[in-house]
Amino acid sequence: MKEMMQALREASIKAILNADDAESLENLRVKYLGKKGELTAILRQMGKLSAEERPVMGQLANQLRSEIENAIDQRRNELSAAMLEKKLERETLDVTLPGEKPHMGHKHPMYNVLDQIKDIFIGMGFEIVDGPEVELADYNFTKLNIDEGHPSREWTDTFYFTEDSRILLRTQTSPMQIHAMETRELPIRIIAPGRVYRKDEVDATHSPMFHQIEGMVIDKGVTMADLKATLNLVVEKIYGKGTVTRFRPHHFPFTEPSCELDIQCHKCGGKGCSTCKGEGWIEVLGAGMVHPKVLAGCGIDPDVYSGWAFGMGLERLAMGEYKITDLRLIFENDVRFLEQF
Ligand code: PHE
Repeated sequence: MKEMMQALREASIKAILNADDAESLENLRVKYLGKKGELTAILRQMGKLSAEERPVMGQLANQLRSEIENAIDQRRNELSAAMLEKKLERETLDVTLPGEKPHMGHKHPMYNVLDQIKDIFIGMGFEIVDGPEVELADYNFTKLNIDEGHPSREWTDTFYFTEDSRILLRTQTSPMQIHAMETRELPIRIIAPGRVYRKDEVDATHSPMFHQIEGMVIDKGVTMADLKATLNLVVEKIYGKGTVTRFRPHHFPFTEPSCELDIQCHKCGGKGCSTCKGEGWIEVLGAGMVHPKVLAGCGIDPDVYSGWAFGMGLERLAMGEYKITDLRLIFENDVRFLEQF
């Protein structure tokens, strides 16, 4: 029995020293010290021993048990120390290395201009509203008094989604006039900035996607005088006090009368230069009194209510403000360009 214990001692210590993870150590513990383990098997044979031998063997067995337990504990400690060492090595961080500077971006210059416009209109009690870029032809055209057959409904000008020309990418923000009149309580004072789409080839002044800002007021007793006064004020806030404006007659199907608003060239004072292309004037927006047919189509009585609306190109405004000469620069998102603003 003594020899068996000695053999177990040698075999178990050797195995424990060779174990290289916690799981195999646990397996060894079960193998040697468990209920069905090898030491237990040896102890079962104690019955065969004489009364004098039994306590001696019992003591030897206890001693062996604690030797094996100690060996396992020690090996476990070694293994976890080694693991910690490895982990620390893997996760070394050289805190003396210079850090990478985070590159802070900023708002796109055109959106700075939009924010400025929003502030001006919010200050005058307008609300800012948003609407769909994928639009029904009904809203983009028909309800705006642009009938079937009108040249702006051509497939060569408009991005349609369906063969029946029913769904399209809005070509203007004016459908927001209809959405507002159909869904909002009167009186209405809104601006609606957003993307619009037209089948234009890209060049220095054209892009198939650009931005407009729609504006509209509907109330009792609103006249062309309100339109002119409000837009003159807006122009002065954008271009500076004393900026000279000119309301030029124009035609839009959804306003009557209609006009375009020009400002006198702030660079040459109206003499004609490269900024105004020799004209002396710079076109800023289209506007007019909301057509009675459009009001009535939205369930608003044109004998009681009237209103005015305008539509303004945002890119053109930003280009003027920041002296940008090529529209493409606004969309290319070249950081070397954008960083300047
Ligand atoms: N939607 C017109 C355009 O795209 C602009 C406009 C808006 C004109 C509102 C009158 C009133 O040219």
